[in-house]
Amino acid sequence: MKALILVGGFGTRLRPLTLSVPKPLVDFANKPMIMHQIEALKAVGVTEVVLAINYQPEVMLNFLKDFEAKLGITITCSQETEPLGTAGPLALARDKLVDELGEPFFVLNSDVISEYPLKAMIEFHKSHGGEASIMVTKVDEPSKYGVVVMEESTGKVEKFVEKPKIFVGNKINAGIYLLNPSVLDKIELRPTSIEKEVFPKIASENKLFAMVLPGFWMDIGQPRDYITGLRLYLDSLRKNSSPKLASGSHIVGNVLVDESAKIGEGCLIGPDVAIGPGCVIESGVRLSRCTIMRGVRVKKHACISSSIIGWHSTVGQWARVENMTVLGEDVHVCDEIYSNGGVVLPHKEIKTSILKPEIVM
Ligand code: GDD
Ligand code: MG
Repeated sequence: MKALILVGGFGTRLRPLTLSVPKPLVDFANKPMIMHQIEALKAVGVTEVVLAINYQPEVMLNFLKDFEAKLGITITCSQETEPLGTAGPLALARDKLVDELGEPFFVLNSDVISEYPLKAMIEFHKSHGGEASIMVTKVDEPSKYGVVVMEESTGKVEKFVEKPKIFVGNKINAGIYLLNPSVLDKIELRPTSIEKEVFPKIASENKLFAMVLPGFWMDIGQPRDYITGLRLYLDSLRKNSSPKLASGSHIVGNVLVDESAKIGEGCLIGPDVAIGPGCVIESGVRLSRCTIMRGVRVKKHACISSSIIGWHSTVGQWARVENMTVLGEDVHVCDEIYSNGGVVLPHKEIKTSILKPEIVM
């Protein structure tokens, strides 16, 4: 089977992290977002993943080359010369997606995280005999997503409305699709939206079916949702009794610590924390609801909550970093500094406190 991951877009809502790497390579729970997806695809028998990309393909491919061998999966790029939206890239990659058997292929948005119940999706797709299957999930605020109105008993989609201005329902498109090759006949090679043009058309032909995604789901394309997504992800590891979760008297709730990270005496860590490879957490540090990316040093008695600390940054001793602070790569927060929601661009040194949420350039 084949799969295409939509990797375009500039990831502006996840700046400053996306100033260093394309969004799909931003670490989530100690590995690049896209690795979660590629591993899930591999697990259901996908042998080739096409990355539909419109900028920096070299960065992506260089990075993923190592994983190709490790995972035993082929990863190729399909590069747009202009952004083709969410459907155009499928037309562009047509030859890569269609195999001799005419098998269906997966299409994934690159910024969603879930347990990826792809096996269940394949079964669902076979059972309904339509042309396309999509995963849906319930959310409280449907207006920022694609909303799906479906027949409960069969899953047949009656209506697909992208970013509705008025309430039509609370089941939304989770950005995980399984499509028959015939869907490609409905897509032209031009900038076009699968949500606005293709799905409504397939739905009108009664060939679009939706399955409610079991387990958690989150679009982690912005900091607040990223932090919530980490909580849900770690909850799901706990539910599945994952041996990856840390334990010990200094750990509270669900915490992920890379085995190469060092944690000093008297720290209190958790809940909902991920500490990446090579990090050094000095003594007496307090961490909760945060992501500490590869190579970060957190000095003595610093306190970090509800924040993301980018690669190779340092947080000084007795510093307090909180309220959706996002430090880009290689940021240095001096001793005893307070950051209340600071969004700090890469390679900066922070010498004075950031008292209210603001971007520090
Ligand atoms: N190759 C390519 N080219 N990819 C693109 C382009 C493009 O021009 N534009 C967007 N993408 C990719 C993004 O990188 C992302 O993986 C995916 O397409 C969806 O784009 P977003 O910009 O993240 O859309 P959204 O979050 O506002 O809405 C989409 O996702 C929601 C779920 O998170 C829609 O699919 C909604 O219907 C859905 O509910
Ligand atoms: Mg998105």
